[in-house]
Amino acid sequence: MSTDGPRTVITFGTFDVFHVGHLRVIERAAALGDRLVVGVSADELNLRKKGREPVFSQRERLEIVAALKPVSEVFVEESLELKRHYIQHYAADVLVMGDDWAGKFDEFGDICEVVYLTRTPAISTTALIEKISAGS
Ligand code: CTP
Repeated sequence: MSTDGPRTVITFGTFDVFHVGHLRVIERAAALGDRLVVGVSADELNLRKKGREPVFSQRERLEIVAALKPVSEVFVEESLELKRHYIQHYAADVLVMGDDWAGKFDEFGDICEVVYLTRTPAISTTALIEKISAGS
């Protein structure tokens, strides 16, 4: 955590089959500081976390997120257990998570501010994959 200098925000996600809910959380996270760092889940982590291979590889997902205007820096999130390390490594002042994780990261309140943002309603990667697979 830094008291002066740019305010760094960090957030995490898979960002597979990139959609407007992803864009909004990134825009709103960026608005909370001067610099947004995004941890993009490794393919292996996504498999462990969601039980499926992502549609787009981590290299492609990283490339898409890195190209977004509000994003200053991206990295591959290799493990959920490394959150504290990543927050400290990127000197984050604020950790932003979607409210699907509400309360789950309060333990990091000792090193940064923890903010949960409301998810954009009615859209998710899982729903999109199902919709596309069903051909409807
Ligand atoms: N997110 C959001 N609104 C949505 C979908 C996602 O704000 N409608 C946010 C999540 O809260 C998270 C980030 O986007 O902070 C990345 O979420 P991710 O899990 O990659 O996307 P989902 O669409 O939720 O994917 P899935 O359906 O596979 O769980």
